[in-house]
Amino acid sequence: MHACALPVQKKLRIFKVTDWTTRGPVTNRLPTTAGCGKERGSRLMSNPSYRFDTLKVRGGYDPSEHNQSVAVPIYQTAAFNLGSPERALRLFSNEEFGPIYTRVGNPTVEAAEKRLVELHPGATGAVGLSSGMAAISFTLFNVTDGSGRILTTPQLYGGTIDSFKKIYPRFGVEVDLVEDPEEPASFEKAVTPETKAIYVESISNPKAVVADLSELARIAHAHGIPLIVDNTFATPYLLNPFAFGADIVVYSATKLLNGHGNLIAGFVLENARFWWDSKQFPQFHEQLYTLRDGNGKERSFLDTFPSLPFTARIRLVYLNYIGAALGPFDAYLFLIGLETLSERVAKQVATTQKLVQYLESREDVAWVSYPGTSGYRHTERAKKYLPQGAGTVFSFGWKGSEAQTERFLTAVKLFSYHVNVGDARSLIVNSPKTTHGELTPAQQLHAQITPDTIRISVGLEDADDLIADLKQAFHTASLQPLQTAAS
Ligand SMILES: Cc1ncc(COP(=O)(O)O)c(C=O)c1O
Repeated sequence: MHACALPVQKKLRIFKVTDWTTRGPVTNRLPTTAGCGKERGSRLMSNPSYRFDTLKVRGGYDPSEHNQSVAVPIYQTAAFNLGSPERALRLFSNEEFGPIYTRVGNPTVEAAEKRLVELHPGATGAVGLSSGMAAISFTLFNVTDGSGRILTTPQLYGGTIDSFKKIYPRFGVEVDLVEDPEEPASFEKAVTPETKAIYVESISNPKAVVADLSELARIAHAHGIPLIVDNTFATPYLLNPFAFGADIVVYSATKLLNGHGNLIAGFVLENARFWWDSKQFPQFHEQLYTLRDGNGKERSFLDTFPSLPFTARIRLVYLNYIGAALGPFDAYLFLIGLETLSERVAKQVATTQKLVQYLESREDVAWVSYPGTSGYRHTERAKKYLPQGAGTVFSFGWKGSEAQTERFLTAVKLFSYHVNVGDARSLIVNSPKTTHGELTPAQQLHAQITPDTIRISVGLEDADDLIADLKQAFHTASLQPLQTAAS
């Protein structure tokens, strides 16, 4: 057990959610984020009784701070006037908080960050980025800071797993894959003194395997390391990973969170409960000249941003120096998409269940991977973490030959053949040759992606139309009769 393995609750710092959301991070001599001025939380943000559906359309935004604009305005500007040399001094010496430069903070982006914070009870800070990959990379670079190991599973988005292989070792970080991705005991066995984080997807891409978050959090915290969760497939509507011990949550907002397939975006959220003051993470408590206060006293990220040390450091180090800023227009589109999250996801989950049932009923379908299907290993786990449904993506294998599968994929008319899950339009794709094509056959097998894997992401079309489309495609692809194809 790690020396600093205190139960996480014992280390809990109590912060107001509005701490970050009203201030935004600050620093000397650096362009900082937006921030809405002084601590003047909006009526909406300070009302803890509002429920999810209210917060998703109103949270994190106070019209009175934006010329009474009902919709969140698009602040399409690179920079913000400093006002006067006196104000500039206050901004740059952390006496006043406000937007300076859009790469590091913009009010439209900030509204999206604040809204997501409010949709995750327990969250204290967020940073918006230009893609899900930026959110993942900046998070893992931030936690490792050029050395150590990440412990994860092969059951991840193909791009993530490929980046672990191709990029991280060049920056001093090694990535270990557990032996049995679905068993927490496998993680316990594989943690080493160099491991700096456990990283999982709450619902894995493409097989919809549900991670045992509480157990993984327990293991991570017992070793003094954080649990980082990619919650892209679940969204906060279906699952709030902070409620089960996650320390950092990342999103590809390109997917279900936005839901319209018209932008690329990512977010990182934190809850400031992890003990970043341990000796394993000096980057959060070393004293920095750039964070000095008005009297010139050097400070650390933890001193300066006690409620958001992790996302503040992403903002001021990675966003600041590497870029990957989320543009105001994309943040605006994202907020519009987010407004219908519950309605979209509830319908998409219901349609997913109908499609899964239909496929399970077909004799020529060899397997379907989605919680609740026969052969799915973790139905109970799914009930615990995802009582409202296990997302809108699942995969299946057909007994047809490879040529028939290709014919099947060509024959579908309503489903699009593209890779962007969570879109309002349903899609179908052969994962081993596309989204997970970077993986070697051995890696695919380790991730339990068999060569026959077909992934479906369910959109907002009528369920019966989607089923009819699959039916006609099976028929077209099958040699006469259908049963022959299944043999
Ligand atoms: C689970 C998951 N995480 C992250 C990403 C990367 O997100 P983006 O495409 O926004 O960079 C994807 C992309 O498909 C994904 O499926």
